[in-house]
Amino acid sequence: MLDFSLSQEQLELQKMTRKFVQTEIIPYMKEWDEQHHFEMGVVQKLAQLGLMGVCIPEKYGGAGMDYNSLAIVCEELEYGDTAYRTAVSVHTGLNSMTLLQWGTEEQKEKYLKPQAEGSKLGAFGLTEPGAGSDAGSLQTRARRDGDSYILNGSKIWISLSDYADHFLIFATVDPSKKHKGITAFIVERNYPGVTTRPIRGKLGIHGGNTGEVILEDVRVPAANRLGDEGEGFKIAMSALDNGRFTVAAGATGLTRACLDASVKYAHERKTFGVEIGKHQLVQQMIAKMEAGYQISQLLVFKSGWLKNQGVRNTRETSLAKWIASDVAFQSASDAIQVHGAYGYSNEYPVERYMRNAKALVIYEGTREIHTIMQAEYALGYREDKILNRMLPPWPFANSGDYL
Ligand code: CAA
Repeated sequence: MLDFSLSQEQLELQKMTRKFVQTEIIPYMKEWDEQHHFEMGVVQKLAQLGLMGVCIPEKYGGAGMDYNSLAIVCEELEYGDTAYRTAVSVHTGLNSMTLLQWGTEEQKEKYLKPQAEGSKLGAFGLTEPGAGSDAGSLQTRARRDGDSYILNGSKIWISLSDYADHFLIFATVDPSKKHKGITAFIVERNYPGVTTRPIRGKLGIHGGNTGEVILEDVRVPAANRLGDEGEGFKIAMSALDNGRFTVAAGATGLTRACLDASVKYAHERKTFGVEIGKHQLVQQMIAKMEAGYQISQLLVFKSGWLKNQGVRNTRETSLAKWIASDVAFQSASDAIQVHGAYGYSNEYPVERYMRNAKALVIYEGTREIHTIMQAEYALGYREDKILNRMLPPWPFANSGDYL
């Protein structure tokens, strides 16, 4: 049986998050964007509402809701601004859910629990100056030294770099092994040798924090290795299955924001004696936003449904991320068009939507990477195998012993 309805709990979550965004983000966003200000107070309030670990089991400090509840939170947050959805994407999608999937009980107790409660922030360090789409060619080195590893290298385009307490860092123990040498580590900000610096001059997400993480002879306990040596590439890719899901969900919120702004303006603005909503070419742009929103949301919820079943969803999540981010960018561009010259100024939010939407088409797998992945799946060149550690299905087992 197919069921497209949200549960009572999900409806309440949606209502609560929507109200939060209306009162705590939207009234301030123009100013924060202009001032390039990331407001940590928003994150603290999200934590108080249980929204920094919404789909993490209660046993590990989360709200214990299903994976589509995370999508609902992301859609609502990005309706306000991409910056706060990005924060939840990296903290919950890329970091906490990866600890849930791959961490030992000790790692979950020590790192996942405070993250899910929202008292500590997590970030994700995969990309390097010379390794973006080609993540398997990363150069950060990890050398075993007794009960520790020594890490050296640098990561770039790291969201929350200046605020995160814990980083999931991917480094290679042997570059000659290519992706089979990559290993994942939990690195605390306060370990000697860790420094961060923000990136200035971004096109969009001015209200968000993005930067570099530099690792100089950082001693990381072997107990902080996530998974086995050489398992890091799979861990990174499985993390992206969750991160991309949150980007796709956020993109639906951005598209809805474009649609709402365009509908409002189309009723207000008159040309040739009628409101512009009466003009068919304006209607065409609005119809595309409506269709794109509905299509994106269906793809996102299908991906979340597969996660709830405990089924590998790399293919479906990649499709959702590709389509939803493309739709968001086109919707934002059209929303400016509907607003005409006013849309080109920051008197209206649609110019911010377009600058932000461009990031969605690039990060967590560019449009081109997802296009190629979809072609490879269709042609039979790529297939998703069952992993030795799957994300736990929902409802979560009470004991937490579901692996
Ligand atoms: N889960 C688990 N394992 C996976 C996996 C997944 N989703 N995808 C692939 N793997 C495994 C494969 O099974 C394979 O295993 P074996 O070695 O045992 O056969 C191994 O990983 C290699 O996989 P591929 O052959 O598919 O690797 P590839 O070299 O063809 O690369 C790629 C695939 C799709 C191009 C990949 O490199 C990719 O997705 N690149 C984009 C990277 C990206 O999205 N970066 C985003 C950075 S983070 C970010 O942007 C966050 C932010 O700050 C907001």
